[in-house]
Amino acid sequence: MTLPLYIWPDTAEVRDGRLHIGGCDVVALAHEHSTPLYLIDEATVRGAMRAYVAAFAATGASFRVHYASKALLNTALAQIVAHEGLGLDVISGAELLVARRAGVPLGRVHMHGNAKTGAELERAVAWGVGAIVADSLDEVEHLAALTEGRDHAQGVLLRLAPEIDAHTHAHIATGGSDSKFGLPLAALDTAAARVLAAPGLRLLGLHAHIGSQLFELGDLRATLAVLVDQAARLRARHGVMVEELSPGGGLGVAYTADQAQGGIGAYARALVDALRASCAEHGMAPPRLTVEPGRSIIARAGVALYTIVARKLDGDGAAQYLHIDGGMADNIRPALYGARYTALLADRAAAPAGPPVAVAGRYCESGDVLLREIALPAARPGDTLAVATAGAYTLSMASNYNLVPRPAVLLVSDGRARLIQRRETESDLLARDVGL
Ligand SMILES: Cc1ncc(COP(=O)(O)O)c(C=O)c1O
Repeated sequence: MTLPLYIWPDTAEVRDGRLHIGGCDVVALAHEHSTPLYLIDEATVRGAMRAYVAAFAATGASFRVHYASKALLNTALAQIVAHEGLGLDVISGAELLVARRAGVPLGRVHMHGNAKTGAELERAVAWGVGAIVADSLDEVEHLAALTEGRDHAQGVLLRLAPEIDAHTHAHIATGGSDSKFGLPLAALDTAAARVLAAPGLRLLGLHAHIGSQLFELGDLRATLAVLVDQAARLRARHGVMVEELSPGGGLGVAYTADQAQGGIGAYARALVDALRASCAEHGMAPPRLTVEPGRSIIARAGVALYTIVARKLDGDGAAQYLHIDGGMADNIRPALYGARYTALLADRAAAPAGPPVAVAGRYCESGDVLLREIALPAARPGDTLAVATAGAYTLSMASNYNLVPRPAVLLVSDGRARLIQRRETESDLLARDVGL
């Protein structure tokens, strides 16, 4: 049986009827480590990181690739980022802490967020992050005050709302004029003037991110054109030439066989072509391009394993629902915006599929249905269900709904499975609940 490797990790294969990833028998891992359990295939993660670097290097442009840690972050993943020579985007003080702990050079870290706290900004400045991506005039004012009198100017990117409504789900579109993110274009002059007047700040460049799960390269080209236009405006009005333009991340991935796949090569060429064409129109040398992929690096590398706990049978005895031991608390995406997934019965992956069933999570919400319709071989309690493309925006958005501990994470490669994040325990959960 061959698996569609644009949905499953590069190393996924079915041997003797059982799913293997990274050379490991996933059913054996599920039994040994218990479920829900997330596997990250090291070869797929590193392969995606290298594909980004190779694709941009092939264009001859000056570029940097930053992994967007909001898709999934743990220390091991940040160590892989450092090892592959990528930069890292963080959103919170704790994500910055993980970056430092993992040895990511902090000059290669960008601090994002529309509502960073004073303490987070202080930490970012004190630790010398490469850039703080300022989202509002208030934040620029705060940074100007915070950095006054420092010898080292703090790099700043100004995040713009480029007025582009990306073709994606409304919950993950972030570039429209009504988005909560970014400075309105009309506010750029004021924000830039304030940064330029602040001795402790250095205006590095401009940033925009129009959304996630994007397949329309035209939206991304349009974003770059807006960034270049605004950079040209800054040059004309303030006499500054920015060093860096960042159109964010957003490249989409296929979650099911009927969905489009985003191509990293085509993405890189589209961005660099748009950058060069817009810069040529304005008679500008192209600034460095910084891209921030998250989903397209980690989604396909991740596989979630669950145990089938029970079945709900219809009047004819056919399975209507398979109930699993995880669900919306470890993967909110289906409940939040109707995301679709595909899955295999890891124990009998090659057995003929029966009629479609729904896979329901264990949490007390009717909307906690992980897969609405999936054709699987006849499943029994105790079987292991493997859900593909589960690496992005799953564990990073996990909750403790119903007070269920969060899953463990294993990094698999070459037949070896390493525990990189242990399962949360009930004691972890109770430790912060101090009672009366
Ligand atoms: C500012 C920024 N950069 C990068 C990303 C990563 O996007 P993706 O995971 O779609 O590549 C996001 C995600 O929403 C983002 O908000």
